[in-house]
Amino acid sequence: MPVRLRDDLAALPTYVAGRTVPGAVKLASNEMPLPPLPAVRAAVERAVEAGNRYPDIAVTTLTARLAEHHGVEPARIAVGCGSVALCGQLVQAVCAPGDEVVFAWRSFEAYPIVALAGHATAVRVPLTAGHVHDLDAMADAITPRTKMVFVCNPNNPTGTAVGEDALRAFLARVPSDVLVVLDEAYREFVRDPDVPDGLALAAEYDNVCVLRTFSKAHRLAGLRVGYAVGPAELAAALRGVAVPFAVSSPAQAAALAALDHLDELLADCAAVVGEVGRMTSALRALGYEVPPSQANFVWLPLGSRALEFAEHALENKVVVRAFDGDGVRVSAGTPEEVDLFLAAAGSFAL
Ligand SMILES: Cc1ncc(COP(=O)(O)O)c(C=O)c1O
Repeated sequence: MPVRLRDDLAALPTYVAGRTVPGAVKLASNEMPLPPLPAVRAAVERAVEAGNRYPDIAVTTLTARLAEHHGVEPARIAVGCGSVALCGQLVQAVCAPGDEVVFAWRSFEAYPIVALAGHATAVRVPLTAGHVHDLDAMADAITPRTKMVFVCNPNNPTGTAVGEDALRAFLARVPSDVLVVLDEAYREFVRDPDVPDGLALAAEYDNVCVLRTFSKAHRLAGLRVGYAVGPAELAAALRGVAVPFAVSSPAQAAALAALDHLDELLADCAAVVGEVGRMTSALRALGYEVPPSQANFVWLPLGSRALEFAEHALENKVVVRAFDGDGVRVSAGTPEEVDLFLAAAGSFAL
């Protein structure tokens, strides 16, 4: 090939998206099972009418709305093309080549990709035996080269969450010039009162940034909107490294309309939380190990049998997300979809 690609490109892990299989139920990408609300779809259609024009590059109205909603200064918010884009922007804004980005493993699979793509060094810290962030070990892993730590709370794919005391003890150990990114993509599904609201911590600590998304509770995964709340200088840096116009007008309009109908969206999240509880109890009764989940999915640490389980689920018309040699993540769907999955899990020879 005549072009010279980066030598280290082969080291980049590939993001494996949940599969869509015609005729099968998809419980593989932690999406909500319901489509966007009618009012949101109408807002998208209106925005499409002006689709010949570029979107508002500064995402002004949505930023102001989020600022009001969360009671923070607009200057502290950066909106992005999904929170995964912001993960990449964070590395670009914070890390020089060779700087270290610490995160738990297994956690959100984009972290090593964005770290390596951003020329940083990915430092993976194993979860505890209970599939929870080992915050002590993560604090121990911080070196003078560490610029950033991702804490995914609740964690994807295990669903486990760290509590307020543990997180505060961790923050007390992190040097004040190391950025702690609290990735709260699943915040709306958290029910344990001991799991802290990252926005409160971001208000208190100058080195904390929170990531939120419209992809899960707000049902806009296909429209791509996420946002970061952190120190104003960091938010400005995130905007500075963003791909211009990355947040489309339909996406901005959809997010605004979703905020107008938050109560309805959150009520549907509560139903999904109920399904997570039902999945957890039923799977445990079948003999599966299921760590307690604070998200809209459950984790089955099946180790070497993960792929076999996923194959079996697919034969029974359910797509789940297997992580080879590690486990299987299953998103909660409608009660009918969950019933189908539980029947499949029940017919798997453990
Ligand atoms: C922990 C976590 N962070 C971020 C994201 C990315 O979400 P978005 O669709 O906003 O890019 C996901 C999506 O699965 C996730 O699980």
